[in-house]
Amino acid sequence: MILEASNQKDLETVKNFYLGRKGKIADIIKNIPALPENQRPLIGKEANVIKQQIAALISRKQVDLAKNLTPQDKIDVTLPPNRSRLGGLHPITQTINEIVKIFEHIGFCVVEGPEIETDYYNFQALNIPEGHPARDGLATFYLKDNDYLLRSQTSTVQIRIMQQVKPPLRALSPGRVFRPDNLDASHSFMFHQIEGLAVDRTTNFSHLKASLAYFVEKFFGPKTGMRFRPHYFPFTEPSAEMDISCIICSGQGCSVCGRKGWLEILGAGMVHPNVFKEVDIDPEVFQGYAFGLGIERIAMLKYGIDDIRLFANNDIRFLEQFD
Ligand code: PHE
Repeated sequence: MILEASNQKDLETVKNFYLGRKGKIADIIKNIPALPENQRPLIGKEANVIKQQIAALISRKQVDLAKNLTPQDKIDVTLPPNRSRLGGLHPITQTINEIVKIFEHIGFCVVEGPEIETDYYNFQALNIPEGHPARDGLATFYLKDNDYLLRSQTSTVQIRIMQQVKPPLRALSPGRVFRPDNLDASHSFMFHQIEGLAVDRTTNFSHLKASLAYFVEKFFGPKTGMRFRPHYFPFTEPSAEMDISCIICSGQGCSVCGRKGWLEILGAGMVHPNVFKEVDIDPEVFQGYAFGLGIERIAMLKYGIDDIRLFANNDIRFLEQFD
C-alpha cells in the first residue's frame, strides 16, 4: 500500500491507516492487556519495531513523491511566458509631445482651446466674414441651430489667446479639428493640428522661418530640406505653405511625394492686421507670425504609416508598435 501511493494525499491516508490514533498499530497496543501475561512483552516489542519500520517506509516514500512530482505539479519551462501588457501613449499623443518639447525649447508654451466653437472664433475673428469664399474651402460641421460648430482649424485658439494675453507672447496649441471629409487613406473627418503663434514688436517672417527650420531639423533630422511657397490664408498676410524634402526618397521623387520630391506639411504666415484689430492689439505696434500643421500627416511621414484610419481603429497590433 505504501509503495503504491501515487501522491502525498494517498500516502497520508495509508499513514493514518497504520499509525493513526485509531490505526492498526494503536489497535494492537490497545489489546496487549488482554493477552496472556507471558506474551505481552514480546508483542509490545514487535509492535514498536513494526511501527518504526512503517514510519521509515512512509518517510522514504514521501521523499520519493516530492522528487517525482506529478505533471500538474511540475513547472513546464517550455511554456511561453505570461506577457504582461503595459499601456502606452497613443502615437498621436507621442507626436504632439515631441513637437511641443521642441517648441518649448524656443520659448513656446501650451494653451488649449475648446473643440466646440462659435462662428466668430472659427471664421469672423479670423478675417473670414460671412460670404467669404474661404468658407467654401473650410467645410464645417454645424451643431444645433447653427449657433455652434466643431472647429475646423486650431487657428481659433489664436483669437482666444490674444483676448487673454497681451504680447509679447509665444504659444502652441495642439488639438482635434473636424471637417466633413469622406474617410479614406489620407482623409478623416477628425484629425489633429498644432497651432503656433508668436507676437512681439519686431517679429517678422525670418523669425517664422528660423523657428520652423529649428523644428524641422529636430523632428525630421538635419538633412531635411525646406521651402516656402506663396499661399493664401485670410488670417495671415503674407501667407505661405511649407514643404520639406521627401523623407521617404530624400527628394529623389517617389510615390509618397507624387514624384515631386517635396511634401507639404504646414500653412503659415504673418498675422493679418484685421485679426490684431479684432483682439485690440495695435497692428502698427505689434507684428506676429502663425503656423498650423497637421499631426497625423507628419506622424505618417515620420513613421511610414500609409493609412490615416489606423490612428483611430484602436488595433492593438498597430498601437503596440509605438510602446
Ligand atoms: N489654419 C490653417 C489650416 O487649417 C493653417 C494655418 C495656421 C495657416 C496658421 C496660417 C497660419 O489650413
